[in-house]
Amino acid sequence: MNLLKQSLTRLPSSLLNAISKKQIERERYKAINDLKTSRENLRALSAHLQSVREEERTRIAREIHDELGQMLTALKMDVLWLHGKISALANKPVKQFDETIKSMTFLIDSTINSVRRIATDLRPGVLDDLGLVPAIEWQSQEFEKRTGILTKFSSSVREANIERERSTAIFRILQEALTNVVRHSKASKLYIRFEMTNTQLILTVEDNGRGIRSEEINSPRSLGLLGMGERAELQGGSIDITGQPNEGTSITVSLPRTKGEEQKQRHD
Ligand SMILES: Nc1ncnc2c1ncn2[C@@H]1O[C@H](COP(=O)(O)OP(=O)(O)O)[C@@H](O)[C@H]1O
Ligand SMILES: [Mg+2]
Repeated sequence: MNLLKQSLTRLPSSLLNAISKKQIERERYKAINDLKTSRENLRALSAHLQSVREEERTRIAREIHDELGQMLTALKMDVLWLHGKISALANKPVKQFDETIKSMTFLIDSTINSVRRIATDLRPGVLDDLGLVPAIEWQSQEFEKRTGILTKFSSSVREANIERERSTAIFRILQEALTNVVRHSKASKLYIRFEMTNTQLILTVEDNGRGIRSEEINSPRSLGLLGMGERAELQGGSIDITGQPNEGTSITVSLPRTKGEEQKQRHD
């Protein structure tokens, strides 16, 4: 050991330099690799979390809609049956009961509506039943109804068979973009367009509001925008955001088209 140390100290400094350079180079290479692996792990984790969350939302939406919906409908029928029975027994309508029954059925009806709304907010059935294009159209109409912002939707296709995960990604990006329009844009008009080209699926959401600024686009605190980009990238696509002061904001999502995806009929 000592012998080695002694001979090491006697090594010419140029050689020592070369050894330490090599070591630094090796460490740098390792650090880069570690960073790459950890980025890949994060991306995989985020993909996993997103798909777990989506599955859970789908399951809860279905359970709420089917089970609670059925129970409430049964409850309403029972209440109406009781009402009929009571009136028959009394041989005439009983005013006291009439009013209570009326408010009970009203309460049940509004609960049924809330249940439907909650289930739809979790995951709209139209996305699974009719597909992405009708779901975007439905969401556009809902958005206009809820916000009063004039919303126009157009599509180059009426229907398209797009994989569930990809439809979900585009749909969730749309929802996030719409939330931003209500929260931040001060827009009065919105234009949503879906296009299926030979190579890509493209969704554009354009508002006529204040216009997003480049600091906002690039800020690490813009977690919503970051999430949109992440969703697109997980599907091999990308997102493009631009803003013009006082003219509006435009968000474009493009995903490369996969083999099985075919357009079904042209729109108008
Ligand atoms: N349509 C829009 N018009 C104007 N500004 C926008 C629009 N969308 C996003 N922004 C700006 O970009 C920021 C980042 O958006 P986002 O990441 O979704 O975060 P959050 O909505 O939680 O604030 C917003 O805080 C807002 O300032
Ligand atoms: Mg947001």
